[in-house]
Amino acid sequence: MTKVLIADELSPKALDIFRSRGVEVDVRVGLKKPDLLSIIGGYDGLAVRSATKADKDVIAAAKNLKVIGRAGIGVDNIDIPSATARGIVVMNTPFGNSITTAEHAIALLFAAARHIAAADVSTQAGKWEKTRFMGIELYAKTLGLIGCGNIGALVAERALALKMKVIAYDPFVPIADARALDVRITSLDEVFSLSDVVSCHTPLLAETKHLLRQRHFERMKTGASFINTARGSIVCEAEMIHVLARRPDLFAVLDVTDPEPAATNSPLFGLPNVVVTPHIAGSLGAECQRLGRMMLEELHRLEETVRQGLPGGEQRVQLDARSAQSNQDAHQYDEVVRKPFDGAHLTAWRQPAAREEAVQRRTHPARNSVTEQDDARRRDERDHAHDRGSDLEQLR
Ligand SMILES: NC(=O)c1ccc[n+]([C@@H]2O[C@H](COP(=O)([O-])OP(=O)(O)OC[C@H]3O[C@@H](n4cnc5c(N)ncnc54)[C@H](O)[C@@H]3O)[C@@H](O)[C@H]2O)c1
Repeated sequence: MTKVLIADELSPKALDIFRSRGVEVDVRVGLKKPDLLSIIGGYDGLAVRSATKADKDVIAAAKNLKVIGRAGIGVDNIDIPSATARGIVVMNTPFGNSITTAEHAIALLFAAARHIAAADVSTQAGKWEKTRFMGIELYAKTLGLIGCGNIGALVAERALALKMKVIAYDPFVPIADARALDVRITSLDEVFSLSDVVSCHTPLLAETKHLLRQRHFERMKTGASFINTARGSIVCEAEMIHVLARRPDLFAVLDVTDPEPAATNSPLFGLPNVVVTPHIAGSLGAECQRLGRMMLEELHRLEETVRQGLPGGEQRVQLDARSAQSNQDAHQYDEVVRKPFDGAHLTAWRQPAAREEAVQRRTHPARNSVTEQDDARRRDERDHAHDRGSDLEQLR
């Protein structure tokens, strides 16, 4: 019988999907690494959120594992090269909690603009500090996005409804998609120097780890805010703290830290211009259930095809188009999973169609006309820049 280990919190309702189809499921949340290593060999499938780390030791010990399902978007807690070298399919739910995360970013945007957290603490302490908490109006201010994929675009759409201007740094987003959203693509340096609020939405990849450095935070406008609902280690945290300590006019509103959970003596705590939430942007009761169900349905479909093989002997794995495009590991993954596996032929399955539909749904008439030549020129510039090994920041 096929056995699946659920190692992080998922909706109990989602388990019915497995059980109703005769798959044996064990739920063991909060396992220590040695315990996970000692039992993982007995499972065909592993379902995780972000807490469990499917690192190379876990994958080496997982002698029977065929699939790892991540309920959520980021797959940085899974060693994808090790998994793919072993023919283990890794899949996520790219659209499951995008809206929830975008809404949390907007909540943090308002928290920063109106000092909600500090004003609450002060008022509950019996003070009445009306002049200390002078906020800023978001109307006509500039939001700068780092990463304009699913979540970035949803945040842009909401900020535009607040009558903000939106600019973005994203070397991979097609310029036509950005213009259709009314977002102007620019360099990373300009996102920091022109924005009143900067919001980070890239995946954590080798190329985005510590992407945001001291020199970026130093460029921020007086009174500007930085919001991070993506991953803590995209930011070089020590360098950001260094700038925040010297510039009390800046604010950082963070849902993610490096490491997680943040140490109780983290230098982030105690800074008057920092607000932190405990990686909750993507978690909401109903959404968690939807996510768990989506993931388990996918996981089951995958598990079924591992047993039976797809027509034509193809195996499918879900991978978000944009992350895949920008992720060298994902390219390698794509290649590796094309190997024959367990009588089937594995092929990474990306979702350009679903992605385009999502863009079309939120598209409103573009203010600027976009020509195919624009896109072609941008592609050429990008290829040329990559050839020269130049800094991505030079791309416009
Ligand atoms: N805090 C939470 O609870 C939570 C919840 C969901 C997602 N997330 C994080 O948000 C991230 C983004 O999710 P998404 O669904 O929007 O992903 P996505 O793949 O749709 O979008 C990511 C965007 O980043 C861009 N990008 C890639 N490399 C880049 C680089 N070097 N510089 C600038 N841009 C780059 C891509 O082109 C893409 O447009 C996830 O990877 C995940 O880590 C966090």
